[in-house]
Amino acid sequence: STSLRSLAAQSGLRIGTAVNMDALASDAAYKAIAAGQFSTVSPENVMKWDTIEPTQGTYNWAPADQLVAFAQQNGQLVRGHTLVWHNQLPAWLSQALPSMSSADVAALLKKHITDEVTHFTGKIWQWDVVNEAFNDDGTLRDSIWLQKLGPAYIADAFRWAHAADPKALLFYNDYNIEYTGPKSNAVYSYVQQLKAQGVPIQGVGFQTHLDTQYGLPDLQNNLQRFSDLGLKVAETEVDVRTTLPVTPVEQNAQVAGYTSTLQACLAVRSCLSYTVWGFGDAYSWVPGVFAGEGAADIYDANLQPKAEYTALQQTL
Ligand code: XIL
Repeated sequence: STSLRSLAAQSGLRIGTAVNMDALASDAAYKAIAAGQFSTVSPENVMKWDTIEPTQGTYNWAPADQLVAFAQQNGQLVRGHTLVWHNQLPAWLSQALPSMSSADVAALLKKHITDEVTHFTGKIWQWDVVNEAFNDDGTLRDSIWLQKLGPAYIADAFRWAHAADPKALLFYNDYNIEYTGPKSNAVYSYVQQLKAQGVPIQGVGFQTHLDTQYGLPDLQNNLQRFSDLGLKVAETEVDVRTTLPVTPVEQNAQVAGYTSTLQACLAVRSCLSYTVWGFGDAYSWVPGVFAGEGAADIYDANLQPKAEYTALQQTL
């Protein structure tokens, strides 16, 4: 068979996708591709705090449980995404946080991590414990977590997650660390220190949201230096957007983006998985966030495979 997952298996790599639960329920073609082409899945949204705890103390596990069940039916692993982030917090929480004491915020974050990781214990391969904690200039992002808890929230989050599921691989995940520069250097130094302090971190996720206008990252070298710290690495949210309408020149650049990022993972022994952030242009998050851009996925808006898909197939 020439499915991406069967080709990846021959290389000892897991190939994944983010899954949109609405599409999975309503679109049979989408469901068939999700099951047939990928060997790991990530919840695009349903494990984020706003979905998991829409009102305080009321948990909404059902959508994420459905994804885990789908993965188990299809012999897929699950990347949990994500426990600590500044986005997609429930409204009750965003309203409450500013006036809370540090001790209360710490207790609440610990409870969130413990409850969520415990709910899924034994079912998650890799957890994105902390997502997007750095700015592009290498400083720590001025999130509500940093404001309330100081930088210690990062190490604490890993410790709390590890206590709840000692076997899950715990990842720090971010974007723009594919490129060598202040951000990847800062994350590199930070995770090196976490390791030196004995914090239970096992991996770094490189989101890999590329845009043809910025050129290709120095990804293999970046994956390798993090790997040399004794960490697993993964490409966790790959897509390659461009300005619409797509010209042949731009599509060639998109194909090069997919090919080179997959080659980088294949070339680095500890690169465990290559995950695309969705697989159909009609369902992509890109047009809603980057005005005038799109066509970032490996299948088109009718779920027909594009040259980007063939490139991944040929690279595996
Ligand atoms: C995006 C989802 O794709 C959208 O559906 C949602 O509206 C916003 O979040 N980095 C991440 C992902 O870590 O969680 C984001 O997912 C995309 C950027």
